[in-house]
Amino acid sequence: MSRVVVVGAVNVDLVVQADRLPGPGETVVGPGVERYGGGKGANAAVAAARAGAEVRYCGAVGADDTGAGALAELRAEGIDVTDVAVLEGVATGVALIVVDVQGENQIAVGAGANAAVDAAVVRSAVARSAGWAGCVLVSTEIPSDAVAAAVETAVAHGLACVLNPAPVTAELVDLLRLGPVVTPNRSELRDLFALLETGAVDPERTTVAEMAAAVAARTGAPVVVTLGGDGVLVVDPERGVAPLPAPPAEVRDTTGAGDTFNGVLAAALAGGATVSEAGARGVAAASLSVGTVGARAGMPRAGAIDDAIARGAPTG
Ligand code: RIB
Repeated sequence: MSRVVVVGAVNVDLVVQADRLPGPGETVVGPGVERYGGGKGANAAVAAARAGAEVRYCGAVGADDTGAGALAELRAEGIDVTDVAVLEGVATGVALIVVDVQGENQIAVGAGANAAVDAAVVRSAVARSAGWAGCVLVSTEIPSDAVAAAVETAVAHGLACVLNPAPVTAELVDLLRLGPVVTPNRSELRDLFALLETGAVDPERTTVAEMAAAVAARTGAPVVVTLGGDGVLVVDPERGVAPLPAPPAEVRDTTGAGDTFNGVLAAALAGGATVSEAGARGVAAASLSVGTVGARAGMPRAGAIDDAIARGAPTG
């Protein structure tokens, strides 16, 4: 059985589809606005649940209609939201998203209740799930001390830990020595590498594999770099470098593709897969997710991931 604890942010996404993304000071106009469930943590929790995992989600919403709706959506996916704090006097997180015709996006988040996720609550939620979970997945749209609490508690209890550094913060560097599987995208990897104080090395002149190897040297664990349409690169201090290419995909909206990858990766790791096997399931799932507008709308169920792998997505 695959059981995952996800610690991170939950938002409501307000999405405008436009011909192109606005530049600084520019207004673009699309036909309308759609409202979807969002937040990197909650999205990944949904991806893990659809991939077949039992999921407990830990985070915070405001004591408002938006928060109640967000929790109802998670419950409808079978996710246990017992460890979500419902906070008075603070709004549920909101993301303002523009998606262009290539499916590329621009996102601004008003953190709201996510900024009030409490480290002590996270610590006790992860500790309480220690005998239950196979993996703890943490993303960083919540306060740094809450992120640290999740990683430290997972590691202290011998649980596999996936750390999605989205966004990268300076405090993450100290957590690397605890050995989480880190899952940056290309730009997050560059930001993380720049924080490692690797001397005069210029991130612009360093390959993805070299930067990931520098992070892996700190964690002693595989680093899994998500590369959009190019798939994923696994850099494992013991097994070396392994690319997992993405199958061809029809792209309508890339929002949430990384969250899909992380949720499915964590679900597979919790079920006993290797990082490479789990990464391959994540790539297949993310490739399916981008065909539909909305972070969660295209997230596949386990059977669809199996079918995509059978059709030739990488198997790890
Ligand atoms: O990764 C996509 C997510 O980032 C969106 O759902 C938005 O809420 C932001 O958190």
